[in-house]
Amino acid sequence: MQQTNSKKGGTTRWSNRFAYILAATGAAVGLGNIWKFPYITGENGGGAFVLVYLICILLIGIPVMMAEVAIGKYGRRTPGKSTSEVAKASGKPAFWGFVGWMGVISGYLILSFYVVITGWGLAYIFKAGAGDFGNGDPAAVQALFKGLTSNGWALLGWTSLVVIGTVLVIGKGVKAGLERAVSTLMPILFLLLLVLAGYAASEGDFAAALHFMFDPDFSKLTINGVVVALGHSFFTLSLASGIMIMYGAYLPEGVSIAKSSLWIAFFDTLVALIAGMAIYPIVFAHHLAPGAGPGLIFQTLPIAFGQMPGGRLVGVLFFIMLVFAAFTSALALIESSVAWLVEKRGFSRWGAAITAGLGIWLLSLGTIASVAELPIAQFAGTDFFSVLDYLTANILLPIGGLAIAVFTGWVANKSLIADMIDAPAVFKNWYPVIKFLAPVAILLVFLQLVGIINL
Ligand code: TRP
Repeated sequence: MQQTNSKKGGTTRWSNRFAYILAATGAAVGLGNIWKFPYITGENGGGAFVLVYLICILLIGIPVMMAEVAIGKYGRRTPGKSTSEVAKASGKPAFWGFVGWMGVISGYLILSFYVVITGWGLAYIFKAGAGDFGNGDPAAVQALFKGLTSNGWALLGWTSLVVIGTVLVIGKGVKAGLERAVSTLMPILFLLLLVLAGYAASEGDFAAALHFMFDPDFSKLTINGVVVALGHSFFTLSLASGIMIMYGAYLPEGVSIAKSSLWIAFFDTLVALIAGMAIYPIVFAHHLAPGAGPGLIFQTLPIAFGQMPGGRLVGVLFFIMLVFAAFTSALALIESSVAWLVEKRGFSRWGAAITAGLGIWLLSLGTIASVAELPIAQFAGTDFFSVLDYLTANILLPIGGLAIAVFTGWVANKSLIADMIDAPAVFKNWYPVIKFLAPVAILLVFLQLVGIINL
């Protein structure tokens, strides 16, 4: 069907460069951009944090993304298998495949709570449409959120819809399912985002938002803010979660890894910044707090939607946008495990999709039980969801990113990687970054996160 450069590798390829960039952007753009980025920017004081985040994306995120895609492009297999293929070809033991495996496991764990939060977004499309935000009375809006999160059956229902949707698309395959879905959803997502930012600019306090996001005040930046910024640059670019290796395995021949990675990171960052420009003008115009935390989108924004002219429609559009963004990420998050079941266990594509979906559905019960505060999910002063969240974002992703940088810079054969990057001038500058700068920076941040050092 398509050409392949590896005798044993799979033959699935994205249709073209554009399809690849769109799919990878769909994976990168998600709850991280629209839900998490605005609230952590709020919590960390605005402009200076945004600047550090941009530097992290540029100096560490993009180089690590290129490494992942290069590994996938060589191996043409699922992340664990591709990584061990690179190791073997470099004369190193195949157990290095664990570097890819870690990503697949992290991605699967992330997905198990991702589907629950996406379910909240889905529920909020209908709440916004039904006019449930009323006239934006803060107590009523709070109660609405509490009403959803304390209702285990409602959470289960919304989550199940998200899981079923994911299985239905992913079961159709990479091209007929994944690629088609992102080519429809991503353009709508961009359009909605621009409409919302335009509305926010005309109706909200755009000047205050610009000042907050782009006027760095370094006195507000803490070392912890730097840590959060680096961690988030990993999360938001979908690094260390298997997916960029997997999508690299589907990379058509002749696509520049460097240029496409730059585009993906550019779009991801752009969406985060525009999401901020769609949210903050409304927050400031209604004198709400930017540092409200994870509830910013579900508990603060609806207050504004209830109060502003046309807020019902704007609210519906906003949550549709959120769900589209989250859904394309959920598709990416399940792809590596589905591909693995097909590759290793001989499942049919549909069988694999349904099996992986059932697993996610079962795992998501842990997060649902935590959110609904059922006793079964609470232990040792914490809960299942918080443990998962902490484990993935603060432990698995940093270690996974470090492992990829070390693997690429120190374990893999240099000329093999150079062949994959296929741009000598880029390679010359990128290699020292992946060999020295990225591992050292990630290690520092990781040690800071687990509290071993305290800069
Ligand atoms: N980047 C996604 C977001 O910003 C989250 C994410 C992390 C992800 N790892 C992933 C998405 C792997 C798809 C695949 O919301």
